[in-house]
Amino acid sequence: MSNAVVQKNCSPIEPLTAERVRELWSKTYNREGKPDWSHILPYYHEDIVFQDSIQRIEGIGAFTALCDRLTRRCKQLRMDITSVVIDSGEIFLEWTMVTMFRRWPSSPVYGCSRLTLGNDGRITHQRDYFDLWGDIFNGIPWFRGPSRLPQKTTEARVDGRVCVVTGSTSGVGYQAVKRLAQGGATIVMVCRNAEKAAQIGRDLWRSYSVGTDVVLADFEKLADVREAARIVLNRYGQIDVLINSAGIHRTRRTFTDDGIETVFCVNHLASFLFTRLLLDRLKESAPSRIIQVNSEGHRFGGLNVNDLNWKRRPYHGLWSYGASKVAQLHTVRELATRLAGSGVTINAMHPGAVKTNIGMDNGPLYRWYRRNVVNRFLKDPAISGEAIYYLAAAPELANVTGRYFNLTIDEPPASYVMNRNVGERIWQISETLTGLADPD
Ligand SMILES: NC(=O)c1ccc[n+]([C@@H]2O[C@H](COP(=O)([O-])OP(=O)(O)OC[C@H]3O[C@@H](n4cnc5c(N)ncnc54)[C@H](OP(=O)(O)O)[C@@H]3O)[C@@H](O)[C@H]2O)c1
Repeated sequence: MSNAVVQKNCSPIEPLTAERVRELWSKTYNREGKPDWSHILPYYHEDIVFQDSIQRIEGIGAFTALCDRLTRRCKQLRMDITSVVIDSGEIFLEWTMVTMFRRWPSSPVYGCSRLTLGNDGRITHQRDYFDLWGDIFNGIPWFRGPSRLPQKTTEARVDGRVCVVTGSTSGVGYQAVKRLAQGGATIVMVCRNAEKAAQIGRDLWRSYSVGTDVVLADFEKLADVREAARIVLNRYGQIDVLINSAGIHRTRRTFTDDGIETVFCVNHLASFLFTRLLLDRLKESAPSRIIQVNSEGHRFGGLNVNDLNWKRRPYHGLWSYGASKVAQLHTVRELATRLAGSGVTINAMHPGAVKTNIGMDNGPLYRWYRRNVVNRFLKDPAISGEAIYYLAAAPELANVTGRYFNLTIDEPPASYVMNRNVGERIWQISETLTGLADPD
């Protein structure tokens, strides 16, 4: 407690260094995953004067109420601190705040705060500056939502880099291998349909003169996933990028031969197992990247760790799809923590609402609905390939990990994904169901 500042009538606080400001102001969730800013309140003086472009607030009571209102109104809240400068008792911090309200989509607001410290080291004045007329309208659908922000692209090439891509015979995965081949990558397609894969491999070779390879696996069978990983490890001493895109959507509940609900197995467990089995090689190949093709569908929720097989609830295709994506997002965050310092990054991404074959193995009614209604609103899947390429190749993402991208826009996932307790539980369950928990 030696360098702590002791306050009259208050508990001591650590002095606000640049590192501490970054840490505290970018921590916007409590352990339950709920938006929460209460941990910064001890750093404010009881006579705090807060001012921004629309309000002036005096006193810690009113300031606490302001913070509470903001976090209560938000489903999600994230602060990215881009820079912090401290000079003679004043702290300037530049930030991007992404909030998702109950009705509006997430709205990135770019701003800067000046914090003035009093004699006791607490903040006596805060002045926030932000672009009210520009960025705030990004959050209002009929102006411009973040998923409609200009997508990022990169000129970087990936010549000779070994990219292992699951589900590359159709839709998002196919667009990804096409774009990566155009960038010069060596493509390893992990698929269940040998003929389709061979044809795509030939086309990529003809168009881009890159090396292609096919490894067969049915992701409904975890034994197949293990075998595919064994083959990839035998053939490739280097893996630079792993992209898990294989995925399904089922309107009816089905089970794999191992007794696991099929969507949960294909969308989450198989990609979890495959990633874990290739992890040592990815570490040896660092810097390397893992991209899990996730979905905005994770916002449907549906994950109940005590009922993964939907025995206690009516099954619903969208919820089961959402559950598999929530589980995957939890493990992306967990794995990012475990990979810290290894040179391997892992991120999740939503590939856009795009026209692919997903769901087309469901019944005739669903297929009719998909073809005649849903498809009219879907976009060209080439945007998914371009976004995955950006995430795989952009130099500015070399150290970015544990994030969720809506195409190329970094967004907060649903707040329940921030719950580390559930994350740890899902990690254990996934290890048990895939046999990773059992050393034999
Ligand atoms: N389309 C969208 O709007 C959208 C939106 C959000 C997220 N996503 C995600 O994007 C990913 C790709 O989906 P998509 O839309 O591109 O669908 P898609 O066109 O149906 O492609 C799915 C790919 O996964 C493969 N696959 C399915 N089941 C498999 C299994 N049991 N074993 C091995 N491979 C299997 C398919 O192989 P076959 O060619 O042999 O069928 C295909 O290559 C999924 O994770 C999905 O959740 C898609």
